[in-house]
Amino acid sequence: MTSRFDDLQELVLKDARKEYSETTIDFFMNPRNQGPMEDADGLGTVSGTCGDTMNIWIKVKDGVIEKATFTTNGCGTSIASASMATVLATGKTLEKASMIGQNEVLSALGGLPLESEHCAALASRTLRAAIGDL
Ligand code: FES
Repeated sequence: MTSRFDDLQELVLKDARKEYSETTIDFFMNPRNQGPMEDADGLGTVSGTCGDTMNIWIKVKDGVIEKATFTTNGCGTSIASASMATVLATGKTLEKASMIGQNEVLSALGGLPLESEHCAALASRTLRAAIGDL
């Protein structure tokens, strides 16, 4: 038997699916790598033109990103974008990770509505700032 909450959640999700991919909804609702990192080697902090700020921490060993985490005070798509950027960066060399741009984040998310594409750009800029902080 479903509760009213489940019914409501299903309605909201049904609406969200019109605009967002399953991956984006999943990364928003179950963000990977969320939260600050205490023993990070690099931290990038970038504010977008929308006024939202994103932080990405990275832990690096032998030139490879071992771990990446994020926080943001931004919108749902910024959470999904930052989370995806940390997933994409993990296990990559610094050189490869610094090539993760807006398009890589967008395509891994299965696309975003045009008005939200800048959130993916913010995630990529923040990742690059973290790499630049090493
Ligand atoms: S609207 Fe600011 S990051 Fe998405």
